[in-house]
Amino acid sequence: MNTIELHKNIYDKLPRFISQAPGRVNIIGEHTDYNGGYALPVAIDRYIQVALSPRKDPLIRVYSGNFQKYGEFTTRELERTEDDELWLRYVKGTLWVLEDIGIPLYGADLTILGNVPTGAGLSSSAALTVSLLLLFLTYAEVKYEKKLIPIYAQRVENEYIGVNCGLMDQTISLFGKKDNALFIDFKNLGFSYVPFKLKDTALLVFDTKAKRTLASSAYNKRRSECEEGLAILNRCLNKDYRYLGEVEKEEFFSCRDGLPPLIRNRVKHVIGENERVIKVVDLLKRGDIGGVGELLFKTHESLAHLYEVSSFELDTAVDLAREFGVIGARMTGAGFGGCTINLLDREKVDEFKSYIVPRYREKTGLTPSVYEVEVSDGAHIL
Ligand code: GLA
Repeated sequence: MNTIELHKNIYDKLPRFISQAPGRVNIIGEHTDYNGGYALPVAIDRYIQVALSPRKDPLIRVYSGNFQKYGEFTTRELERTEDDELWLRYVKGTLWVLEDIGIPLYGADLTILGNVPTGAGLSSSAALTVSLLLLFLTYAEVKYEKKLIPIYAQRVENEYIGVNCGLMDQTISLFGKKDNALFIDFKNLGFSYVPFKLKDTALLVFDTKAKRTLASSAYNKRRSECEEGLAILNRCLNKDYRYLGEVEKEEFFSCRDGLPPLIRNRVKHVIGENERVIKVVDLLKRGDIGGVGELLFKTHESLAHLYEVSSFELDTAVDLAREFGVIGARMTGAGFGGCTINLLDREKVDEFKSYIVPRYREKTGLTPSVYEVEVSDGAHIL
């Protein structure tokens, strides 16, 4: 059943608006967004849609097709309560941010339906918040600045849900473009498109199905370790950089002995990763997919050993992919579980799946899901 049919079944009326926002995979540039660095994500052909019918009263009724659950509240009771389930919190939290920035809110009947796997590190929550923001801004008939939407979506996560994420997922979910990767500079949130049409190469997602335990607290810990590194470097350099992404490689080398080993590793990852993003942009422009693949492997190494956000399952998936002979593979997103991405010849996709699935299952006891994704457009009203 599609979103319109589901909406009609639940509320016995057709929606007035439907918004759609995609999930993402990040090609390269991991744990750089909150460090004022670079990233190169793509939007994928997995979406969350939200359908809306207006109401005359301030009631918000919402049905989640994925969770098969229903919730309701009014536009006057947006404060966070501990009883709300997470998916409903995202809906309330989005309205809470909209109210805070002065957008008039009206009642609505909503249906949410999507095919971005939840909790797999493909940014289903960014897709949901971006989709809801676009929908309610359209419904309110107000003028808005599109580039502020990712910032509102991040506020939902940071201030309402309590996840201290950066801006990458929201930015790509909104600004993604078919057959293009988005090169983002997080120092100033500027971005440009880099053609990413791979012709004979497939982009495969490998979902490890490993639970992302402690992901949020470990993520916050990495953020504070980076802040600590920045403070030490600023003192050593007598500078006032706002982000690690502003520190030059030579400056890092001149101060590296003053950094505790663990912090040094974190900083080294960020500096190396930013360099790799620039290289990958260049390689893509030259059509050198082999070169891109090598850098994906390097990023995985760096995330596993310097930044320490990989896991046994992610490493196993990347090792097996390398053994098979893919062009490149690495964990994508925050880490601690979730997915890897794999670049490989289109004609070898089936052979790859038959190779990797049983071996991965044998080593981890988990049955992964492996599927090809297409690079797709960002959020819009359908
Ligand atoms: C998560 C966060 C992003 C980013 C990545 C790591 O996806 O939501 O902001 O920090 O992890 O690159």
